[in-house]
Amino acid sequence: MEIQTLYQEAIKFASAKHTEKGQKVPGTNLPYDVHISNVAMEILIAGSSSANFNTAFAVQVALLHDTIEDTSATFEELENKFGIEIANAVIALSKNIDLPKDQQMPDSLHRIKAMPSEVWAVKLADRITNLQPPPSHWTNEKKYAYKQEAQQILNELHKANFYLAKRLEKKINDYNSPSALL
Ligand code: NI
Repeated sequence: MEIQTLYQEAIKFASAKHTEKGQKVPGTNLPYDVHISNVAMEILIAGSSSANFNTAFAVQVALLHDTIEDTSATFEELENKFGIEIANAVIALSKNIDLPKDQQMPDSLHRIKAMPSEVWAVKLADRITNLQPPPSHWTNEKKYAYKQEAQQILNELHKANFYLAKRLEKKINDYNSPSALL
């Protein structure tokens, strides 16, 4: 199937699920579709700049990456509609909320690293998309912790995709700048 068709099926499914929850981009009034389509955009551009990159697979994972963690979507639903590889990728990208909070990211990174490199790339693209000037109510401590977590993601996953690793590295450096911390 064409990537364009796969993209449309995945964004329709994800958008319906996130809309059902009334989910917005945190700190804004924008529909969550803005987040998932930005992650997919990062993946499409990275895919065109990377050799041996399964763009069809990666872009579907990008669009669906928050459905299990944030919506009523289940592993079985994703498996039936998009196949086992995509369901496995999305579950790896989902936090295990039964774990203590400080273990959730290391645990997810560990599970992501057992997946194809395109899944690592989606995690890089997700954090690139999220590393924007932080909401005004965030404390400096929270901003610092978020930056540290981004650095941890970069350290663990940078080998997956040179193009996205460079972009995330730049976003982390920009996050340091005084204007981003206002
Ligand atoms: Ni996300």
